[in-house]
Amino acid sequence: MTRHFLRDDDLSPAEQSEILALADTLKKDRFGHKPLAGPKTVAVIFDKSSTRTRVSFAVGIADLGGVPLIISTASSQLGGKETASDTARVLERQVAAIVWRTYGQAGLEEMAHGTRVPVINALSDDFHPCQLLADLLTIREHRGRLAGLTVTFLGDGGNNMAQSYLLAGATAGMHVRIASPNEYGPSPRVVADATAIAAQTGGSITLFTDPGEAVKGVDVVVTDTWVSMGMEAEKAERVARFGAYRVDQSLMSLAAPDAIFLHCLPADRGFEVQADVIDGAQSVIWDQAENRLHAQKALMLWLLERAED
Ligand code: CP
Ligand code: NVA
Repeated sequence: MTRHFLRDDDLSPAEQSEILALADTLKKDRFGHKPLAGPKTVAVIFDKSSTRTRVSFAVGIADLGGVPLIISTASSQLGGKETASDTARVLERQVAAIVWRTYGQAGLEEMAHGTRVPVINALSDDFHPCQLLADLLTIREHRGRLAGLTVTFLGDGGNNMAQSYLLAGATAGMHVRIASPNEYGPSPRVVADATAIAAQTGGSITLFTDPGEAVKGVDVVVTDTWVSMGMEAEKAERVARFGAYRVDQSLMSLAAPDAIFLHCLPADRGFEVQADVIDGAQSVIWDQAENRLHAQKALMLWLLERAED
């Protein structure tokens, strides 16, 4: 049966590890795998802005022998004019996979329901699972392993990156800490799901409100914008509330001496992170951005092998 990738825990621990290993292979041999030869087309749909996701999917699809069809919702019938389900029925007869950046998770579920080709979440309000595959690849490249490492995400604990860290980090057997104000914490449902996964993998989930406590001795420090796409109207209150969670050198000095810093980008220097951290020696953000390409190629290859004819 066709597999979809709508949230991080759509992959079991063994499957996640298989895709990361495949990403290593594809990174070493960038043009050696052509599952999209034909060329087959992959639809990549954007309801929200993007630089990295658009480029890495377009380049990755071309690397795999296919053709990317980039669709902006504003110039298509999606987005209130036609249902996700009807759109999927049209696309599945012509494309090999559907990649979609959107708002609600429910739309992705509707797009995937009964659809013959893989549907991939390229960011929703709740999760950013493709980014997490790239982050895990990056962390493993720099630290040699994932299981047993401790990662702290600071800032908006309810956003897509924080919630994906909970699920994907737990799947990888990591100890995941989220540091956020109480009223900006992750969904209790996602915390429960991640905790259940961590119980199987040897990882753990801990929520903090104190940023200093949360980063003490950790291996990986992560943050993201305080104002995710769609939340622009809340900018002033968010900036006022999140100040204590800004990642600066004094916060980094509480982490392990060899801790690495990640940010999915785009970044607001001076808000969630100071420039001397994101542009400093502990930052691995450019490797992280490049790894979107390798991780998503591995994901597409893996999903295409399992898709119905
Ligand atoms: N990190 C990320 O998804 O970046 P874009 O919004 O530029 O795609
Ligand atoms: N949390 C951010 C991630 C951007 C890649 C957003 O949703 O805007």
